[in-house]
Amino acid sequence: MMASVTTTGFTVIVGYLVLVAIIGMIECRMPSTESVVWTTKCPCRQCDLDQFDRKRVICDEGDRLEIPTRQMDNTANILIFTAPPDHQNQVTIGRIFLDFKSLQEIHIKYSNVPAIGDSSFWPGRKVEVLDLSYNNITILRDTDFNGLTNLAALNLSDNSLEGSPSAPFRFLTNLTRLSLARNKLTKLVPRLFYRLERLEYLDLSGNPLVEIEPEDFKDLKPLRQLYLNGCQLSRLHSLIYQSLPNLEELDLKNNRFEAIAPFEFKYLKKLKNLYLDGNSLTFLDSNAFNGLRLNKIGLSHNQIVSIKSCTFCNSTVKELDISYNKIMSFQPDITEPLAVSLVSLNTQNNHDLHDSALSVANLIRPLKSIRILSLSSMNLEDSLPSNVFLNQRETLNSIDLSGNKFVNISAKLFEGLKHLESLDLSSNLMYGLSESVLETLSSLSSLTVIYLDSNPWSCFRCHVLPLMEWIQSSPAYTNACEKDDRKSCAKCVQPIDLNGKELHSMQEWSLP
Ligand SMILES: *[C@@H]1O[C@H](CO)[C@@H](O)[C@H](O)[C@H]1NC(C)=O
Ligand SMILES: *[C@@H]1O[C@H](CO)[C@@H](O)[C@H](O)[C@H]1NC(C)=O
Ligand SMILES: *[C@@H]1O[C@H](CO)[C@@H](O)[C@H](O)[C@H]1NC(C)=O
Ligand SMILES: *[C@@H]1O[C@H](CO)[C@@H](O)[C@H](O)[C@H]1NC(C)=O
Ligand SMILES: *[C@@H]1O[C@H](CO)[C@@H](O)[C@H](O)[C@H]1NC(C)=O
Repeated sequence: MMASVTTTGFTVIVGYLVLVAIIGMIECRMPSTESVVWTTKCPCRQCDLDQFDRKRVICDEGDRLEIPTRQMDNTANILIFTAPPDHQNQVTIGRIFLDFKSLQEIHIKYSNVPAIGDSSFWPGRKVEVLDLSYNNITILRDTDFNGLTNLAALNLSDNSLEGSPSAPFRFLTNLTRLSLARNKLTKLVPRLFYRLERLEYLDLSGNPLVEIEPEDFKDLKPLRQLYLNGCQLSRLHSLIYQSLPNLEELDLKNNRFEAIAPFEFKYLKKLKNLYLDGNSLTFLDSNAFNGLRLNKIGLSHNQIVSIKSCTFCNSTVKELDISYNKIMSFQPDITEPLAVSLVSLNTQNNHDLHDSALSVANLIRPLKSIRILSLSSMNLEDSLPSNVFLNQRETLNSIDLSGNKFVNISAKLFEGLKHLESLDLSSNLMYGLSESVLETLSSLSSLTVIYLDSNPWSCFRCHVLPLMEWIQSSPAYTNACEKDDRKSCAKCVQPIDLNGKELHSMQEWSLP
C-alpha cells in the first residue's frame, strides 16, 4: 500500500530538497580550511595568517638540518619550527634572525638544538614568546638572551640543562613565565633568577634538585605559581617561603617530604593551592597548615597513618584530598576547624582504617558546607551509623560509597538529602534492595545519577523484583547505565543462567 502524497506534503518535500541544495551550495562556498597565504617566499609547509592575522611560518615536516631563514619572508611575526618526535630536526641557531624585525613568537622544538649562542635572537625587541622545549640544550650562557627585553614567556622545558652561569636571564626584565621543567639541574646557581623582576610563573618540575638554597629564590618576590613536581626534595627552608610572599600555588607533588613542621607555610599568606601528593608523609602534625586560607590541599598518595586533631587549626580549606593513604583512624575534631570552609572531601582508598564507621562519622559530623564526599574503598560496611549524613542534608550534592562492603544499606542513610545529585553505590556486596530503601531513593528529588553496577545482584524474583521495577522507571539509573558504553549498568550475578544479564532488560515473567 502506498500512502498518497498530499499537496502540503509534496510542498514540504520539495521545500526540503531546495533547502538541502542551498545548504549544499553554502557549504561549497564556505571558506576552505586552507588558510590565507601571505607570502610567496615560503620554504616551509605553510605560511598563513593566524587567528589574529599575524604572519605565521610553520615548518613541521621534520628531518631538517637548518632553519631556512634565508629563504623566508622577513616580515614574519611567528615562526613555528618543529618536527614529529621520530623525525627530529638537527639544527644550530646562531644569529639568524638579524633581518627579522617583526617576530613576536619563536618556537623551535624537537630540533636537537645543542646550545642557544651569543645574542642568537638579536634584535628580538618584539619577541614575546620563545619556546625552545624538547631540544638538547645543555648549558646556558649569560649573553644567550641578549635583546629580548619584551620577552614575556620563555620555555626551556625538556632539554638537558645541567648548569648555568649566574644571571643568565638578566636581559629578560619583562619575563612573567619561565619553564625549566624536565632538565638535569641538580642545583641552582646563586642568583640564577637575577633581574626577573616580573616573574609570576616558574616551573622547575622534573629536575633532580635534592636541595634548594634560600639564596636561590631571593629574586622571586612577585612569583605566584611555583612548580617543583618530581624534584627529589625532602624539605624547603623557611627562608624560601619568606622570600615568596605572593605565592598562590605551590606544587610539591612527588618529592620526598617525610614531615611538615607546625606552621610550615605560615609565610605564604596568599597561598591558595598546595599540592603535597605523592610524598612520603607518615603523619600530619598539629598546626601544619596554621594560617592558611586555601582552595585546595592535595595530600593523596602518601603514607599517612595519623592526623593530629589540631592539624587544620586556624586554617580554612575548600577541597581536601587525603585519598590513597594508610590512615588508621580519624579522631574526633580533625575537621572541626574546617567545619564551615570544607566543600569537598576525598578520603577514598584508605584501606587500613580500624573502625571505619566511627572514623567516617567523626570526620563528617562537624562539616556544615560539605557538598562532595568520596568515601570509596574504605572498608565501610552496614555498621555505618544511619544518621551519619544527618547534619549535611542541606548541603550534600554527591556521595561516593563505591568499593565498600555494604550488603544492605539502611533506608535512613539517605533520608532528606534533598540536594543529592549523584550517588555511587557500585562495587559493593548488595544482592537486593528493600522497598524502603527504594522509596527513600525515589524521594531524592535532585538525584540525577545513581550507580549500582558491580554488585552481586540476585535475580531471583524474591530479591530483585522491587529493584527491577524501580530501575526501569528511574531516570537517575538510566543516566548512569547509558554512560561509558553501558559499563555502569547493574547486572544479575545469580542464578547462574542469568549471570551477566542487565537488570533493566529483564521481564517480570522471566524471573525464577
Ligand atoms: C645531547 O647532547 C649531549 C651532550 O652534548 C650528547 O652527548 C648527546 O648525544 C645529545 N643527544 C642527542 C639526542 O643529540
Ligand atoms: C613589558 O610588558 C608590558 C606589559 O606587561 C609592556 O607594556 C611593556 O612595553 C613591556 N616592555 C618593556 C621593555 O617593559
Ligand atoms: C613549555 O613546553 C611544554 C612542552 O611543549 C608545555 O607542556 C608547557 O606548557 C610549556 N610551558 C610554558 C610555561 O609555556
Ligand atoms: C591564625 O592565622 C593568622 C593568619 O591567617 C595569624 O595571623 C594568627 O596568628 C594565627 N593564630 C593562631 C592562634 O595561630
Ligand atoms: C537486610 O535487611 C533486611 C531488612 O531489614 C533483613 O531482613 C536482612 O536480613 C538483611 N540482610 C543482611 C545480609 O543483613
